[in-house]
Amino acid sequence: MNVFERRTRACQDALAAADADALICFPAENMYYLSGFHAEPMERHLFFILAREGDPIFIAPELYEGQIRDASWVEDVRTWADGDDPRKLVENVLIDLDIVAGDLLVDDQLWARFTQDLRRAAPGATFGLASTVLAPLRMRKDAAELDAMRHAGQIADTVSEQVRELGDDALGMTEAELARHIENLCIDAGGDALSFDVIVGSGPNGAKPHHRHGDRKIESGDPVVLDFGVFAAHYPSDQTRTVVFAGEPPEGFEAAFSAVKAAQEAAVEAVEPGVTAASIDRVARDIITEAGYGEQFIHRTGHGVGLNVHEDPYIVSGNETELEPGMVFSVEPGVYLDGEFGIRIEDLVVVTEDGHERLNHSPREF
Ligand code: CO
Repeated sequence: MNVFERRTRACQDALAAADADALICFPAENMYYLSGFHAEPMERHLFFILAREGDPIFIAPELYEGQIRDASWVEDVRTWADGDDPRKLVENVLIDLDIVAGDLLVDDQLWARFTQDLRRAAPGATFGLASTVLAPLRMRKDAAELDAMRHAGQIADTVSEQVRELGDDALGMTEAELARHIENLCIDAGGDALSFDVIVGSGPNGAKPHHRHGDRKIESGDPVVLDFGVFAAHYPSDQTRTVVFAGEPPEGFEAAFSAVKAAQEAAVEAVEPGVTAASIDRVARDIITEAGYGEQFIHRTGHGVGLNVHEDPYIVSGNETELEPGMVFSVEPGVYLDGEFGIRIEDLVVVTEDGHERLNHSPREF
């Protein structure tokens, strides 16, 4: 049994435990996780349907059949041709599986037009979210997933060190130019693609946590928030460093930086099985608050990372999920001084049997 089939069988157990009748995925991470076939969301009807018992069924546009058969262990692939109405096929499969009046769990991000079609095909069904059964499974990574994430982390480390070496040469570059440079380094270092659009937040732009990059030129003394990662074998890295390429950082920067660094260090050190996600957030937040920047730490401490760059478990107050071996998440406290600068330091951390393992090791100093 390959890893994808093993996950599918575990998912069927979870469906039974949740008293749900079937799971319906469209082209996105859950489909890959269970079938081994990956595709971007698309306008054509392409579904992976898994009832509580038996083997899964693909409903697919004819032109994808070969790719699905190459990538997936699933044998039952029912195709439709451009020009056909795929909704009839969907309806027939739901009837075959006897789930037209069942409790169906659909991908959380399923497009509304597909949800509409499913509602029409299964008028007696109730609809829930796939994450109720899949998020707990996907939260605990297996050895192969962790290897992919270690590799993605190494690539981000390599690029982080290369970018830091720019020193004076970064002065005068625009954020967009530096972002393009980082993208190229990421691919050259072995990344399959970027995990997300690179963030280069220089000077005051760094105070907007999800600023992407723009035309501002990097100046001497600017703190620059650099947040990027790559996909390797479907799994992403996500790392942030705050770098002053040359010159003297602005007044107040060093004190705020030390608070963020101490918070990040302490929160990572607190990671071990049995503690809650909320408690890790609290460790980071208490240190930053005591240093006087509590109001400027305007986001949660971290997010789970897996096939999706943001997934469970979220490291946020109120999340009483207990950490378990195999969970992977970011620890990324930050301080954002509006109109002045921002600071964020982020590493990915794996929960191990007796503590934690960092997936990023590049220097964290500014
Ligand atoms: Co992150």
